Amino acid sequence: MTVILVLHGPNLNLLGTREPGVYGSLTMDEINARLLRLGANLGVEVRAAQSNNEGALIDALHDARHWAAGVIFNPGGYTHTSVALRDAIAAIGIPVIEVHLSNVYAREEFRHKSLVSAVCRGKISGLGWHSYALALRALVEMAQENDSAQG
Ligand code: DQA
Repeated sequence: MTVILVLHGPNLNLLGTREPGVYGSLTMDEINARLLRLGANLGVEVRAAQSNNEGALIDALHDARHWAAGVIFNPGGYTHTSVALRDAIAAIGIPVIEVHLSNVYAREEFRHKSLVSAVCRGKISGLGWHSYALALRALVEMAQENDSAQG
């Protein structure tokens, strides 16, 4: 069965109470539950993980290359700072979609720059939990296209 990893970076464990005017009122667990349900409807397994540590996120990306068809990744603040996460994404050879709950381009200028975008398959920003849902739909469709191309 196709498996997709949803990976949340730093401070996203506090969703629900963290700046709800910016990030919405859903908790991370609620978002994960919605994505697991959506995945089940689309016929794939969704696994979710979160870490506040850059090294643990790198380890999770490395590990995912053995079993995931793709990764939905919200790198949080590391988006704007981490060469190491960028290198991990470039190294693993599976599609990674960068997602953000908020519209980073409507916020402070330091959030306009992403070190990971250029090595991601695509990027979805500003749609709240729908950013993740659209990324999941895209990864599932891309995996299906790969399967049918391989016959
Ligand atoms: C975020 C945007 C980042 O700039 C910020 O540091 C976050 C969350 C988002 O989902 O909107 O932690 O990735």
